[in-house]
Amino acid sequence: MTGNTPTPVTVIGLGSMGRALAEAFVDAGHPTTVWNRTPAKAAPLVAKGAVHAGSVRAAVEASPLVVTCLTTFDDTLSALEPAAAALSGRALVTLNSGSPAGARAMAAWATGRDARFLAGAVKNVPAAVGAPDTLLYYGGDRTVFDEYETTLKVLGGDTVHLGAEPDLAALYEMAVGGMLLPALVGFFQGAAIVRARGLEAASTVRFAEKWLDMIKSLLPIYAREIDSGDYTDAASSVNLFLAGAAHDEELAAETNVDASWLAPLNDLVKRAAEAGHADHSISALTEVLRKPE
Ligand SMILES: NC(=O)c1ccc[n+]([C@@H]2O[C@H](COP(=O)([O-])OP(=O)(O)OC[C@H]3O[C@@H](n4cnc5c(N)ncnc54)[C@H](OP(=O)(O)O)[C@@H]3O)[C@@H](O)[C@H]2O)c1
Repeated sequence: MTGNTPTPVTVIGLGSMGRALAEAFVDAGHPTTVWNRTPAKAAPLVAKGAVHAGSVRAAVEASPLVVTCLTTFDDTLSALEPAAAALSGRALVTLNSGSPAGARAMAAWATGRDARFLAGAVKNVPAAVGAPDTLLYYGGDRTVFDEYETTLKVLGGDTVHLGAEPDLAALYEMAVGGMLLPALVGFFQGAAIVRARGLEAASTVRFAEKWLDMIKSLLPIYAREIDSGDYTDAASSVNLFLAGAAHDEELAAETNVDASWLAPLNDLVKRAAEAGHADHSISALTEVLRKPE
C-alpha cells in the first residue's frame, strides 16, 4: 500500500496456494497480475479482475512487488530465469516450501540480479489465506518487509519478519513443520485402532483435541528445559515413556494395526535412557537428536 493506493502485485505460480494468494490480493483491491506455466489456471482469477501476463517477464515488469508460489526453489529459479533482467530494483518474495540451503541459493540468485529479496512461508492451507490469524513468516531484506508489510498482511494477519537472513523462514518452517507428520500419523493410528473395534474415527476427535491442547501447554516448559540444558525437574520422565513403549506391540497385535512406525521413536527413548537421561524429562530426547559437533 502506498498511501491509500493499493500496491500493484504480481503473483507467479497459480497452484492451490498461489491461486489463493492471488485471489486475496484481488479481493483486497490490489491491481494483480498473474502468470502460470499452465495458462488455463489464470482464468478464474482473470474473471475476478486479475490481469494475465503473456510471459513471465511481462508479469515481473507489471509490479514493484513480485510474489512467487511454485513447488520448489529450483522450480522458481527456472521459471524466473527468462525474467531475470526485469527483476532489478523490484521486491521478490518467494512463498514456497524448501530447505534453508535452497532459500540461500535463491537469495544469492535474486540479489545477483539486483532484486530485493524476502523468502517467506505460509503456515496454513490455501483456504486460510487472508484470515486475520493466518501465520506467514519471512526472512531477508527488512526494507522490503517494512515497505510492503500492509500488502503482505492481506495474505494473513499474523505476519512476522524473522530476521535479515533469507533462510530463516525455511529454517523455522522445517523446524516447526517437523511435528506435522508424527502428529497426524499418531491420529491415523488411533483412528485405525478404534475402527478395528468397529468404532468411528470421529469418536476420537474430541479426545485427540484435548490431547493436542495438553501437548501445546507443555511446549514452553520443554523449550525452557532445552534452552537451559536442565532436564532434572521431570514431570514426565524418559523412563515413563519407556514403560509406555512396551504396550505398543501388544496393542498392534490385539487390533491388527501396524504400529511399526513407532519403533524408531521408541528406540530414541531407549537411547536417551542409555545415555543417562532415564530419570530426566522427556525433553532430554533433544540431546540424543543433536549429533556431536
Ligand atoms: N497447498 C498447501 O496446503 C500449502 C500449504 C503451505 C505451503 N504450501 C507450499 O506452497 C508451494 C506451492 O504449493 P501448491 O499447493 O500451490 O502446489 P501445486 O498446487 O502443486 O502448484 C504448484 C505450482 O508450481 C508451478 N510449477 C511447478 N514447477 C514449475 C516449473 N518448473 N516451472 C513453472 N512452474 C512450475 C505449477 O505450475 P503448473 O500449474 O503449470 O503445473 C503450479 O503453479 C509449495 O512449496 C508448498 O509446499 C502449500
